[in-house]
Amino acid sequence: MATRKLLLLPGDGIGPETMAEVRKLIGFMNESHGAGFEIEEGLVGGSAYDAHGKSISEEDMAKADAADAVLFGAVGGPKWDSVAYDVRPEAGLLRLRKDMELFANLRPAICYPALSDASSLKKDVIEGLDILIVRELTGGVYFGEPKEIIDLGNGQKRGIDTQVYDTYEIERIAGVAFELARTRQNKVTSMEKRNVMKSGVLWNEVVTRTHAEKYSDVALDHMLADAGGMQLVRWPKQFDVIVCDNLFGDMLSDVAAMLTGSLGMLPSASFGAPDGKTGMRKALYEPVHGSAPDISGKGLANPIAMIASFAMCLRYSFDMVKEAEMLEKAIADVLENGLRTTDIAAPHAETVSTSEMGDAVLERFRSLT
Ligand code: NAI
Ligand code: MG
Repeated sequence: MATRKLLLLPGDGIGPETMAEVRKLIGFMNESHGAGFEIEEGLVGGSAYDAHGKSISEEDMAKADAADAVLFGAVGGPKWDSVAYDVRPEAGLLRLRKDMELFANLRPAICYPALSDASSLKKDVIEGLDILIVRELTGGVYFGEPKEIIDLGNGQKRGIDTQVYDTYEIERIAGVAFELARTRQNKVTSMEKRNVMKSGVLWNEVVTRTHAEKYSDVALDHMLADAGGMQLVRWPKQFDVIVCDNLFGDMLSDVAAMLTGSLGMLPSASFGAPDGKTGMRKALYEPVHGSAPDISGKGLANPIAMIASFAMCLRYSFDMVKEAEMLEKAIADVLENGLRTTDIAAPHAETVSTSEMGDAVLERFRSLT
């Protein structure tokens, strides 16, 4: 039996509440299907700070390094507002992303049929939607140097951020997008602004060359990122995989996410380079939402984003595609049966708690497998 090493980092706020629902699923898969998940647990964010004064310990960083995949809950909140910048809860997540070199951020936007009325867009625009945004996560304008505020001495200041991309960074993110497209509708749309940015010219050139050399079986389109934003809202179903840089990806993935629904529904994955020995990519899976301090500890959190992040983990880290699909179907079925946590419920509708939602997904998953 294969062992699959998973590190769970629930974090703080609603993180531990939603992670508890994933733990139930892992337990079930180990007991009934011999899935062989070997679980380690660690502290990150506020829970780590409260325990030992750091946002993540070296010991837990080592566990992340040894794991096949990391499941991350959420971190942050007003409780830790006054702690020093480099040990604040969010620093733990940034450290993980940086040390694991997670350069590819994947955010799917799918429409669950039962929630197709919940979008601000017309039903026929989003019904059946299933797109994937692949965002470059470790380069571009968020990291480029110089990055500073200069005092010009005449009562004026100058803020500077620098957009920098090297060929290898574009090649590797394009490679991830093309590989993923092959497992989906085989179509990639690359977005940049080559009309006004040199890095956009290079982006376009390298994506085009990478495509021609290695992935010519995949359909490739280019779109200017601003036009892409319009098209995402006008007719999102024209897309399959969208690949873009860090800044455009940040904005476009938020737009795409909100095409369909609540923050409590949205999973994400981040990948690093494949391991030289095993070929496996370092990966971290986490919901898009934060620690939701306003509802934490009340059993109100929607666990679906966390559970759907685990489904992504099954698909991408462990090649358990059938199980991932069944788990996603279990989520869709439970929604179809009318179960709602408060964030996705109509006003005055009956709602269920975090653990009731988790139990319902587990029950449905059990009956499907
Ligand atoms: P948030 O995502 O925590 O919450 C925004 C709103 O959505 C809140 O009203 C919250 O109750 C609701 N919400 C979020 N997830 C939900 C779920 N699963 N079920 C039901 N409702 C849900 O974002 P906010 O309030 O801006 O940030 C709170 C803290 O989280 C901050 O400290 C922030 O830095 C941190 N944060 C952490 C992230 C992470 O751990 N990856 C990502 C985003 C924010
Ligand atoms: Mg953002």
